[in-house]
Amino acid sequence: MARNITILGSLNIDLVTRVPHHPLPGETLTASSFSISPGGKGANQAVACAKLSRPRPSSSSLPSPGNNEEKTKAEETAHIRMVGSLGPDSYGTTLLQNLSVHGVDTSGIRVLSGEYKTGIAFIIVDEPTGENRIILSPEANWFYSSPTSLLSSPDTLRGSPVDDSDSGKLPDLLIMQLEIPLATVLAALRAARNDGVKVLFNPAPAQHLPLDIYRGLEHLVVNETEAAMLASVDVSVLDTEEGCEKVAGEFVSRGVKNVVITLGGRGVYYMNDGKKKGLVPAEKAAVVDTTGAGDTFVGRYALDVVEGDGGFEIEKAVRKANRAAKMAVERRGAADSIPWRDELE
Ligand code: RIB
Ligand code: NA
Repeated sequence: MARNITILGSLNIDLVTRVPHHPLPGETLTASSFSISPGGKGANQAVACAKLSRPRPSSSSLPSPGNNEEKTKAEETAHIRMVGSLGPDSYGTTLLQNLSVHGVDTSGIRVLSGEYKTGIAFIIVDEPTGENRIILSPEANWFYSSPTSLLSSPDTLRGSPVDDSDSGKLPDLLIMQLEIPLATVLAALRAARNDGVKVLFNPAPAQHLPLDIYRGLEHLVVNETEAAMLASVDVSVLDTEEGCEKVAGEFVSRGVKNVVITLGGRGVYYMNDGKKKGLVPAEKAAVVDTTGAGDTFVGRYALDVVEGDGGFEIEKAVRKANRAAKMAVERRGAADSIPWRDELE
């Protein structure tokens, strides 16, 4: 039976310009291209779980809302549910449609009424390197269920029945990032602990966190900047494998079971309860746009967590996630750059 993954997080529309170099203070720069595309770390990770758990549909049978659902269901290995919040605008509609088209369950998404707007990310991509700079305007994401409304709705984690036999089942994994209020994340974490739901936490963008957040956390996935900030060390500590081991060990000592530190072009460091550890080198990539690569990594890794049937192997999960992320950096956009399962095989 398909496993359930719930993603509680952000949905953004990305306004992306590609430029010959990042603008200097006071400089007006002409972009070589502009695009509007679906993004947001939460929504990207939901789309990643969905696309990476099923083969690419032939163009004639590209899943669309209410079409081909049966066929898509049969081929998917996981049921993916997004919980988040949108504004009552056309960007919100675009995001909802994009999730549905990829087979993500959108029943947990709330469209706010009134003055709210859908979250926006202004992204500048430096063409020569593919590196991005992002300004995030969270908008509706910031007004998602306040912790109070989250707690007063105990079904936030449970979701709607997947089918009759699956009525109101708790997810096998809850994924969260930090583009929604920390208070909401903390409330959901507490609810997950009470219900025995495993959590994959991707604290991006990083901010200082209460130490209790790490206690009993099943999976922590961070990039090097986030790792350094959360461990209160200089980012240069992560230049060596010994440094990575030290930082990952710090998270393990705080109570995390599986630590993954993504190191960009250098690869990924992993540590499992302090026992299994190592560095998986990055795969050579022709970098076009790094946006969404981290989310793709999280999505593929999460599928290994739920598909593993108790036999989760961290190194294997990291290798597969690495391959998926490599494909995402070689394409433009965030959600649009995520590969389908068969592209990976
Ligand atoms: O992780 C990439 C995402 O971060 C982008 O899609 C953008 O929306 C920002 O939130
Ligand atoms: Na990309």
